[in-house]
Parts: sequence; C-alpha cells; structure tokens
Amino acid sequence: MSEHQSRLDLFIDRMVSQRACLDYAIAQTADQPGPVFELGLGNGRTYHHMVQHIPGRPVYVFERAVASHPDSTPPDDLVILGDVRETLPASVERFGASASLIHADLGGHNRQKNDTFARLVSPMIEPLLAPGGLMVSSDRMYFETLTEMALPEGAVEGRCFIYRR
Ligand SMILES: C[S@@+](CC[C@H](N)C(=O)[O-])C[C@H]1O[C@@H](n2cnc3c(N)ncnc32)[C@H](O)[C@@H]1O
Repeated sequence: MSEHQSRLDLFIDRMVSQRACLDYAIAQTADQPGPVFELGLGNGRTYHHMVQHIPGRPVYVFERAVASHPDSTPPDDLVILGDVRETLPASVERFGASASLIHADLGGHNRQKNDTFARLVSPMIEPLLAPGGLMVSSDRMYFETLTEMALPEGAVEGRCFIYRR
C-alpha cells in the first residue's frame, strides 16, 4: 500500500479490482457447467454482479449470517449457512471438485487477521475447484496445487488475486 493512498483510494481499488477479476473469471469459465461459490455475502454487491452475469450456473452463497440488500438476497436453497470453517469441509463431500468459479471476500479491516484467515481456509477451498476452474479472492491465498494468474486489465496489483486449477 502506498503511504499516499487514503482509505477511500484503497476501497475504490478493491471495488474496481473485484469487478475486473470477476468479469474476467466469469468469461474464462463460461463453458464450464459447475456451480459458482460466493464466500461471504455481505451487502450482496458481488453476489448480485455474479447472478446478473452468470446465466445457467447456480450461485451458492457461504455466509454465517445473511444481512444483504433485499435485491441481493439468495434463495434459501442456495445459501450454505454457517461458519466457512465448518461449511467448506462439509461441502467437499457434497460437491466434490466441481466448482467452476469460487469468489472469496471474507475479510474485514484487519489485514493481519485476513491473512491468517486466508492461510486457514485455503486448504478448505482448494478441493472444491473443478479442473480449469478459477478462484478470485480479495486476499492472497495459500494453495498447494493452484496457480496464481496475471491480473486482467483494470485490476490493481495486490487488491485482488486469481488462481487456476
Ligand atoms: C466484506 S463482506 C463481503 C462483501 C461482498 N463481497 C459484497 O460485495 O457485498 C464479508 C462477509 O463475509 C462473512 N464472513 C466472514 N467470515 C466468515 C466466516 N468465517 N464464515 C462465514 N461467513 C463469514 C461476513 O459475515 C460478511 O458478510
């Protein structure tokens, strides 16, 4: 982070990068039939973006407490409610390595905590991604078998990360 960047600058970079990376990942995985996973619903902005731009693939949401904008609230049967530290391992049994796209935006304001959490959940996310599938994250992840990809045009280095199986 540049010392000259304000919190507003950082927020804008994160939003712009999320959209650029999601649009890229959606296009790259368009021919894959597997489900899409949104880890962390929050206000539901990125969920809404994905649902609008991904026809024909269900978008499952992993969230411990749904409190999104009414226009961005997923149907009950596509919500996997609970702490991802429990729901991700349980989902490996249910879905196997089938997800075409996984987006994670689980972090808060504490960068150190976000990094510790990313290290913890990386091995839980890794087995859910289908071969050729993409994982987009706001935090650097720690995968053993996934490859980090170059960011698409418009995304800001360090604000978003893309991995491929
Ligand atoms: C930054 S918000 C996501 C914002 C979202 N991308 C959007 O565009 O509105 C992070 C969300 O992750 C959820 N979350 C954080 N840690 C979690 C955990 N361990 N299990 C389940 N959900 C979690 C929080 O409840 C919060 O809703």
